[in-house]
Amino acid sequence: MLAPCHNAVVKRVLTGIKASGIPHLGNYYGAIRPALELAARADVQGLFFIADYHALTLIHDRAELDRLTREIAAAWLAFGLDPERVVFYRQSHVPEIFELAWILSCFTSKGQLNRAHAYKARVEEAQQKQLEPDALVDMGLFNYPVLMSADIVLFDCDVVPVGSDQLQQIEIARDIVGRVNHIYGEGVLHLPEGLCEDTALLPGLDGRKMSKSYGNTIPLFAPAKQLRKAVGRIVTDSTPPEVPKEPDASLIFQIFRLLAPPTDTAALRARYEAGIGWGDAKAALADLLERMLAEPRARYDELMAHPERLDALLAEGAARARQLAAPVMDRVRRAIGIAR
Ligand code: ADP
Ligand code: TRP
Repeated sequence: MLAPCHNAVVKRVLTGIKASGIPHLGNYYGAIRPALELAARADVQGLFFIADYHALTLIHDRAELDRLTREIAAAWLAFGLDPERVVFYRQSHVPEIFELAWILSCFTSKGQLNRAHAYKARVEEAQQKQLEPDALVDMGLFNYPVLMSADIVLFDCDVVPVGSDQLQQIEIARDIVGRVNHIYGEGVLHLPEGLCEDTALLPGLDGRKMSKSYGNTIPLFAPAKQLRKAVGRIVTDSTPPEVPKEPDASLIFQIFRLLAPPTDTAALRARYEAGIGWGDAKAALADLLERMLAEPRARYDELMAHPERLDALLAEGAARARQLAAPVMDRVRRAIGIAR
């Protein structure tokens, strides 16, 4: 947890959202909800952006990249991201990020990028296929951590909440900052900190981690009927309805308790202990999800029906982001001798 800041010090917290798939219930539980809670704090200034140029390392279909960017922006707004309070923008709308990425690359050791997990995984994959080590690697993938460092450093960020898989990238950013400051003076770049919360993983329909790669997700914005259908596909056993059941061993209950208020969880627990049929347990979960998701779904549909509003909102966010970036870029350019 981010410690509360005293003396009215406001921490700048930045979250990058990869445009790589329409978000599901696991993303909501593990990423969207905690980030929005953090951004709502009075002592936090939030910057949230869609990492569309990072997505270009994966998505080479023009229509898909465009659609995903809008869907993800709409999803975060639908769950209550307040674009007045939070600076919300598309990475590609802030050209300073790419200028800074070049500058930072001049202070990044290739050896360090050779050790990046995503790059190493691609090299291993090539070796398994008996290809040249770098056969599956493009420079977008290789330089990904440098672009990510620029995303962060451009805004003098204090804190970057990330999953544990992203901590290495934050370490790379911190090393680059250290190298630049060592050469040009302390304070040229602000040192960011990674914040990694140990949140539980929401299980999917088959009991493995809910993930788009496993096809076991519950969609966030599906119509009510489809949502109920997805819940109906959660794997159960053949215990008869009247037999008391151990709630924590049930997938339906495991999902329910991660999302519901404690009183609802206690009530469902009691029903399990008295004996509940799987159909009724699924109905309880579907009802909970419908209560949680009906309003965001309506807001999402409304936003997707008016892409021009979404675009205007993101353009406004980019203008605010560029205002914050300007003094930092100015400081960096002067420090390195590109401007006086
Ligand atoms: P996916 O596994 O579907 O590909 P991503 O890797 O794109 O999801 O994850 C995006 C964000 O959502 C990350 O912050 C990740 O930690 C979070 N997340 C994804 N799946 C879950 C889950 N089942 N439970 C909790 N958090 C999750
Ligand atoms: N790499 C992050 C992910 O895979 C997305 C991201 C891009 C990001 N730039 C960032 C996250 C800057 C935090 C800060 O999810």
